[in-house]
Amino acid sequence: RPGDPCAFVVFGGMGDLTKRKLLPSLYNLRANGLLPRDFAIICVARRDLDDAAYREWATRSLREFATRPVEDALWAEYVERIHYVKGDLEDPGTFERLGAALAHAREKHGTAGNAIFYLAVPPDEFGSTVRGLGASGLAREDGGWRRVVIEKPFGRDLESAQALNRELVSILREEQVYRIDHYLGKETVQNILVFRFANGVFEPIWNRRYVDHVQITVAEDIGVEGRGDYYESAGALRDIVQNHIFQLLTLVAMEPPSTLAAEAVRNEKVKVLDAIRTMSPEDVLRDAVRGQYGEGYIGGKKVPGYRQEPKVSPTSQTETFAAGKLLVENWRWAGVPFYVRAGKRLARRDTQITIQFRRPPLLLFQDAGLESIDPNRLDILIQPEEAICLSIKAKRPGAAIQLVPVKLDFSYKDFGSVPPATGYERLLHDVMIGDSTLFHRADMVESSWRIVTPVLDVWATLPARDFPNYAAGTWGPSGAQELLARDGRRWADPESS
Ligand code: BG6
Repeated sequence: RPGDPCAFVVFGGMGDLTKRKLLPSLYNLRANGLLPRDFAIICVARRDLDDAAYREWATRSLREFATRPVEDALWAEYVERIHYVKGDLEDPGTFERLGAALAHAREKHGTAGNAIFYLAVPPDEFGSTVRGLGASGLAREDGGWRRVVIEKPFGRDLESAQALNRELVSILREEQVYRIDHYLGKETVQNILVFRFANGVFEPIWNRRYVDHVQITVAEDIGVEGRGDYYESAGALRDIVQNHIFQLLTLVAMEPPSTLAAEAVRNEKVKVLDAIRTMSPEDVLRDAVRGQYGEGYIGGKKVPGYRQEPKVSPTSQTETFAAGKLLVENWRWAGVPFYVRAGKRLARRDTQITIQFRRPPLLLFQDAGLESIDPNRLDILIQPEEAICLSIKAKRPGAAIQLVPVKLDFSYKDFGSVPPATGYERLLHDVMIGDSTLFHRADMVESSWRIVTPVLDVWATLPARDFPNYAAGTWGPSGAQELLARDGRRWADPESS
């Protein structure tokens, strides 16, 4: 169903996120009939523009970044609903003008007093923006609902995340806050719950009795793409592991929720995070691996090392690769390691979850090549390929019993072609209908920082002497292979072992 009537306010209305993701996603929602009929977009930025000039900028941006051809008639009707408010977020006058623009949108476009405030601004401006919303009364819900969307990073360690959450709840109710994670908008990620809980055959074996270990990989072949300044203060652990990887992990490891209501699902997810063992400094030294890429080759082309990227210190200690072994200490998973890794400038783009099952209890086919064949394995491929694939053994035709691994697989291609999307559509629509299932909750954020903060602390006190320790275009530092090899295991992707 289309979202509820509302005004969609973007702080950072001329930023990268707005032009690359928000405008194209809203357009896609419109084209799919999922935007409310009574809708307006109000963009707030510092530049001195009027509605007409901003609409021109928005039109140019959309034409550049739309994921589908822009239909003139549709856009003409849509662009009329876009308004611009100039102003600095430290200035109370900006929020007064925004209040006037919201009143105008209500009258002209029927937005019913409902508003979404999307903070597409750098994290150091979250606080001032939310305070501005509070002080101006715009966050109050007396004349319609008010929801605030924030993008990661939700803090940079446990303490700053708690401070941010305190600031948010001093002005907003937790239910008004939508902490967005674009990984949860991906089809294959949403499919994990369906796969687990709409099929009866997997759940009985989804536990320590049958699962040997789990692997989660988020590999990128791109580097930091001009975002050196941001990345210098983030690193792979904060950029990918604390949020995207932990979300994937909770979907794999959570107990079945009693309903699909947002709180029921999020309660189960946070229980998983709470069950992850906090690492001691010794655990960190043994079970966490960091890396930084040096120059190398991607697709046959030479690329510079991280320290040579723009806006990066030539002696940078920031990790562009992180791997670790996590233990989920509950009845279902006790003793089953979860190995996770994320990195930039790796051999190829590949986001994948692997459930490695145990060997059969008795090897009946010793002479049939079984020794060389891995036990059953389930791969959930998230990108670029979208598929679920179970590796099993089969008998090769012939007189002798000879076993070969084969795949039972399902590919998203089987659904036919779906118009390309940005991945934000589902999430923005969820905000419009008030469904927070796919968003981080305050306690989840804090719990995930509790897990990574000890690692960050150890890494901050012990400089990495071996950086850069992997060449661009490879599978990361050798420590990542050793992490699994020590346990007699290897990464599922044979190239990366
Ligand atoms: C973002 C990170 O959250 O996710 C980026 O900040 C990263 O550094 C991106 O490149 C990866 O997203 P995707 O959807 O391409 O896997």
